[in-house]
Amino acid sequence: MYPLIEINIGKLKHNVNAIVKLCNGAGIKYIFGVTKVLAGNLKAMETVINSGITHIAESRIENLMLVQESSLPKLLLRLPMKSEVSNVVKYCDISLNSELETIKLLNKAAQDINRIHQIILMIDLGDLREGIWFENDYLSIVEEILKLENIELVGVGTNLTCYGSIIPTQANLGKLIEIKQQIEYQFKIKLEIISGGNSSSLHLITRKELPKEINNLRIGEAFYLGRETAYEEDLSSCYQDVFTLKAEIIELQTKPSYPFGERGVDAFGQKVEYEDIGIIKRAIVAIGKQDVYHTNIWPVDNNVKILGSSSDHLILNVTDTDYKLGDVISFRMGYGGLLQLMTSQYVKKTYIK
Ligand SMILES: Cc1ncc(COP(=O)(O)O)c(C=O)c1O
Repeated sequence: MYPLIEINIGKLKHNVNAIVKLCNGAGIKYIFGVTKVLAGNLKAMETVINSGITHIAESRIENLMLVQESSLPKLLLRLPMKSEVSNVVKYCDISLNSELETIKLLNKAAQDINRIHQIILMIDLGDLREGIWFENDYLSIVEEILKLENIELVGVGTNLTCYGSIIPTQANLGKLIEIKQQIEYQFKIKLEIISGGNSSSLHLITRKELPKEINNLRIGEAFYLGRETAYEEDLSSCYQDVFTLKAEIIELQTKPSYPFGERGVDAFGQKVEYEDIGIIKRAIVAIGKQDVYHTNIWPVDNNVKILGSSSDHLILNVTDTDYKLGDVISFRMGYGGLLQLMTSQYVKKTYIK
């Protein structure tokens, strides 16, 4: 049954092992394995969990609920919603936080079930997503956090290359280290974790430039696509083809390349420009924007070109190929594509060893 995404479990395991080894070699003691792109797929999650990571990191509590029996600590990656604090303290050991109001609610929820909830305080070093702005008064917030009996501040962290496209460097991570040291000095405490980012920090390891004080990274994309994400360079020790999308041809006909008639907008309300390259062999494969945006995938066969898609149809130029009706076309994908495909209930998940 198509469409399907084939997950090569052996290659996934290899990638996680290889990155854990790379990180350990650079002094990274805690490796948070980010599984959110797997959209709760247990077989793939368990592969990651059993390949050397120290913590399971997820942005959705629902997915952490699925792996409660694992002995690894569980971390909530997205800042908690005020409305979910009781589930956060119940199902997660640690969460990333930047809002004192939410942290106070976590404290209360943890008190209610007699638990200590650990937090990592997020500092925004310039990427402009979550975190207290590095020039703002984080010390007074720490002072308040330290008064909370059921909250343990275990570290500071930052997230980069997500919204503002900012690349981790010795300079910006150096600020995080200074902030950690300042907090320790001011309050005479020890912070165990300095969380220096995601797969975009791996380039600092391969260039031997990661500051030695950084002892944690939160890794997702590099496990799945085998590359760091600052410069999108492949990691030589990893596979880039862990996932393959396969979809079936449901129409194969020779037609013009340029639409015929008065033009309005496409199925998604867009005015599209079309290239007139004459008469071509066109294939429609049974997958569409409801599963994945066509800009997030690319055919494995270089002779196949993506022309466009609507909600259930992906249209290809297959002029230079011998495909027949019912044949299956394979695709690779970027992170956005993988996220959509894993999340789509219409895309079957299959496994190879
Ligand atoms: C806070 C945070 N840390 C780490 C990650 C992992 O990022 P990447 O998949 O680039 O390694 C993400 C995104 O999934 C995130 O939101």
